Amino acid sequence: MTVDTTVTVRVPAKVNLQLAVGPRREDGFHALVNVFHAVSLFDEVTVKAASPRRPRALTALTATGRSESHLARVPLDEGNLAARAALLLAEETGAGFPVDIHLDKRIPVAGGMAGGSADAAAALVACDRLWGCDLSRERLLDLAARLGSDVAFGLVGDTAVGTGRGELLEPMASPGRYRWVFALSPRGLSTADVFGEYDRLRPDAPEPRLDTALEKALASGDAVALGASLSNDLQPAALSLLPELRRTLDAGRGAGALGALVSGSGPTCAFLVGGGAEDPGAVAEREAGVVAALRATGLCEQVIAADGDVPGTTVV
Ligand code: C5P
Repeated sequence: MTVDTTVTVRVPAKVNLQLAVGPRREDGFHALVNVFHAVSLFDEVTVKAASPRRPRALTALTATGRSESHLARVPLDEGNLAARAALLLAEETGAGFPVDIHLDKRIPVAGGMAGGSADAAAALVACDRLWGCDLSRERLLDLAARLGSDVAFGLVGDTAVGTGRGELLEPMASPGRYRWVFALSPRGLSTADVFGEYDRLRPDAPEPRLDTALEKALASGDAVALGASLSNDLQPAALSLLPELRRTLDAGRGAGALGALVSGSGPTCAFLVGGGAEDPGAVAEREAGVVAALRATGLCEQVIAADGDVPGTTVV
């Protein structure tokens, strides 16, 4: 038997097609109905048996990424969810030897696309393989849910609805493939701050419910209906904290996007530019128009196109 000394796992970003936020629960988290959709912006997490000369901590982290401003927002200590994932797996299994973890980050950092959670999912899968734990999928999903509300989705990918605080996942029927444009902000937003602003703006939030129009649009692969049914209850809170996002959303809508919304807690804005049964030439034309309009605002650090949905964590 050969023993791996390095394992690399690729993991996608997510956009929320619906994010319905209910009241704050007793544990401080909010009841959610969260429709996750995995898109083709990937982080790669590499874990490697550490050199015996390195001081004996379980993990040491390094990162590369899109830009200095994104990298500056990545914690390189045990505050990083990828390091916490490795520690939790070691604690739960009694396995584990020191590892160097490298994060190659293409997912916007603190951008509302679950990049930190994705890295945690990838680190769990990579350490499970490197340490030979061989945990069942159920146990990995359970550990993921304990690490954070969005971590389990990184393992699952495709399109799924999360309930509870977002961690209880059910796959959703979504046969279509869609094209998205993402406008990255030069700023980051803290998820906890956005939920706090939500509480201030919506003290009497009702119980969250899955939008049946969205469910139908996904099942039929109808891009126009999907664009019309995108929704995010956190959007007013994100706009309240970063008002210029409204201009970004308006620019993409004005250029013909089928739907536009803040992704998760933001500040990344997501624009559906087509897919399903639509003619690919028409989709490409719409995409070019939306990209040009977003760049012309001068508000976006980067504008990137991606496809959804895509599978979750994959060992490469
Ligand atoms: O679970 P996760 O670590 O991703 O959550 C980050 C923060 O977002 C939490 O500390 C909490 O403030 C907020 N949150 C929430 N309700 C949820 C999920 C997250 O209030 N269902």
